[in-house]
Amino acid sequence: MPEISDRDFKQLVAFIKARYGINLEGKKFIVQSRLSNYIQDCGFRDFTDYLTVVFCDTSGREVANLINRLTTNHTYFMREPEHFAHFMDVFLPLAEKRIADHDLRIWSAGCSFGNEPYNLAMCLDQYFGFRRREWDLQILATDISFNALRSAAKGVFGEQALKNVPNGWKEKYFRRLNNGLYQVTDDLRSNVVFKYHNLMEPISFKKKFDLILCRNVMIYFDDSTKSALCKRFFEATEDGGYLYIGHAETAPEDMPYIKEIAAIYKKPEVMTE
Ligand SMILES: C[S@@+](CC[C@H](N)C(=O)[O-])C[C@H]1O[C@@H](n2cnc3c(N)ncnc32)[C@H](O)[C@@H]1O
Repeated sequence: MPEISDRDFKQLVAFIKARYGINLEGKKFIVQSRLSNYIQDCGFRDFTDYLTVVFCDTSGREVANLINRLTTNHTYFMREPEHFAHFMDVFLPLAEKRIADHDLRIWSAGCSFGNEPYNLAMCLDQYFGFRRREWDLQILATDISFNALRSAAKGVFGEQALKNVPNGWKEKYFRRLNNGLYQVTDDLRSNVVFKYHNLMEPISFKKKFDLILCRNVMIYFDDSTKSALCKRFFEATEDGGYLYIGHAETAPEDMPYIKEIAAIYKKPEVMTE
């Protein structure tokens, strides 16, 4: 198995941190084990040879491949149920009152295999029911892993992945495929738009969001990266809108949002006379 030298590892850590915010310090063994087979299979002489290609890659293909291997995409349905409870019991009733044009914007930032945005789409369907057609309810879901995004767009999951899905939702929001896997219904899939977006880059989506979820992503970022990202999120949030972060994550010290409860932040409403 090829081994990565301290020098190569340091360079790789600096490259990934500068471009994607992910801090790989102290994860030398994991990085090595995630890349070794690929390096051998592709006929690179060693890590140095491979990284030279990565650092000079202008096509973006080799870097994308590296990101597919290095990102941690662990996710599941109904992860951190407190967020879904807040979404249904607090966020949506408030949004319903506040959003006069019925254009509700939600962004799942760091969506991995799509469980999070599909879960939100299910909640929206539960909440709005037949009134759904009176609303524009598309969810934007973004990530830097093309593998994760490709898989998310297909919306295919194993039986095990559905174990936390509430009773009745499996029949309502999934169809069983011949191979025993489950696919999110076309109707629900049409509510989610998957796109590549690197959270280190400026946010240039046309409209602001009523809710941004960035859960279990910033855990890999250092304080200054988190601080800059939360400022960008704040700018991209509607007044009175929310940010959900993971319960295991800490907000930066200069968090511009107001903390409502654990892992739930609000951008204050602007009072008009
Ligand atoms: C652990 S998953 C979290 C998925 C989901 N939000 C959840 O809580 O279950 C973290 C995701 O963040 C993505 N990610 C990491 N750095 C990113 C960046 N700079 N821009 C966008 N996505 C990023 C990874 O590719 C990965 O899919």
